[in-house]
Amino acid sequence: MSSMHHKPTGGNPSRVQFNTRLGVIATTVGSAVGLGNIWRFPYEAGMHGGGAFMLVYLGFIIVIGIPVITAEFIIGRHSGANVYGAFKRLHGSPCWRVVGAIGIVASLMILSFYSVVAGWTADYIVRSVQNFSGAYTQEALHSQFGEFTASWSAVGWTVVFLLANFWILKRGVQKGIEKMSNIMMPALFVLLIVFCINSLLMPGAAEGLRFLFNPDFSKVDSSVMLGAMGQAFFSLSLGLGCLITYASYFSRRTDLVRTAATTASLDTLVAVLAGVMIFPAVFTFSQSPAEGPKLVFEVLPAIFYNMQFGMVWSTLFFVLLFLASLTSTISMSEISIAYFCEERKMSRTVATVLNTVIAITFGSLCSLSFGPLADMTVFGMTMFELFDFVSSNVLLPIGGMLISVFVGWVLSRSVIDDEVGGQGSVRRWLVSLLVICLRYVAPVCILLVFLGGIGLFD
Ligand code: PFF
Repeated sequence: MSSMHHKPTGGNPSRVQFNTRLGVIATTVGSAVGLGNIWRFPYEAGMHGGGAFMLVYLGFIIVIGIPVITAEFIIGRHSGANVYGAFKRLHGSPCWRVVGAIGIVASLMILSFYSVVAGWTADYIVRSVQNFSGAYTQEALHSQFGEFTASWSAVGWTVVFLLANFWILKRGVQKGIEKMSNIMMPALFVLLIVFCINSLLMPGAAEGLRFLFNPDFSKVDSSVMLGAMGQAFFSLSLGLGCLITYASYFSRRTDLVRTAATTASLDTLVAVLAGVMIFPAVFTFSQSPAEGPKLVFEVLPAIFYNMQFGMVWSTLFFVLLFLASLTSTISMSEISIAYFCEERKMSRTVATVLNTVIAITFGSLCSLSFGPLADMTVFGMTMFELFDFVSSNVLLPIGGMLISVFVGWVLSRSVIDDEVGGQGSVRRWLVSLLVICLRYVAPVCILLVFLGGIGLFD
């Protein structure tokens, strides 16, 4: 670590820290931007009525997302510890450590099913180079995808992906992550803009944009609300202590509120761009927007096929998506690795091996739930769907609500002022607004949506 900054108050001065302001933004955005934006957002929006989902989603980003990101940053930087240790340091009662436990479980669940989809992107890099064997009709793409995801080779790619994740993690907190994010995130962004322009020139552009941006309020029900809230948490890497863990590596110079707002804005922008890229194509190729998890994988190759040098675009895109997934899985792995190292006193190598072994085990099961284990269901959900639903729509909102209550009600105001306060009336006004959001708005919102989503008000 080339620069070490000692912290005047709070925190843990002996901890490694991120080098530069760009490094902080790039890694935090690198965590947030990933399959959640490009794969999960379009298919969730597609299943939940498009515009209505989008509007509710944006609302949640503002009233819950930005305040709770800031809350995680405050906890992380002030404690300078992993998600479990953070609550131990900041509060005497063991009760709050349950938030840490929820985060660790959620992170391992997400890592498992996320790696399956990341493995698909790896396979799609190879398929792109082979030009999808020339099979570009929607039926051919559909059956290719179905056969592949049901096969053992999909399990193989999940493992390959997790080994790549392992390799980077073993090199330590900063070197691997920071360098990679600095180059890759801007590249992905530029590529998305090119694809959006291409999609906007398609015959189905108007219909696609109408679907995404024209809200039909009759479609807003409790399942749309819960889906949009879960998506907001998932996409922002929020509610499971990922941002607590990352903020424990921030220096005192990092402006937490600004970083929170920047992260939320860029993450939302990438999700919206992904929507603008996908939906015009969905309508141009007469697909159903409500296809679910396969939507993006079946529609994208058709988009690339219709572009000049399609094979090059396609390869580039899946390479960048693969890397964007890696920066996200690195961040979610760091949650349990920091915990294993600091609380369980394991070496970083042992902790990283343990994280990888757990993820390979459950990841393989999630992958097989598209094939041999498709009939193994709980509450009508396959293992993959269950892991996704329980983590995104249950654990992350509960974690987020508790984090919000902790900073709003339990942590002393002087800590909040110390971490995010500053000179000037605008800043004082912002901090008061933040506290109101964390005390009342976010927890009440999360609770109501959650209870509605599990059918309490039906
Ligand atoms: N936010 C990531 C995405 O949108 O792809 C997923 C994610 C990363 C979730 C890290 C949770 C996490 F801790």
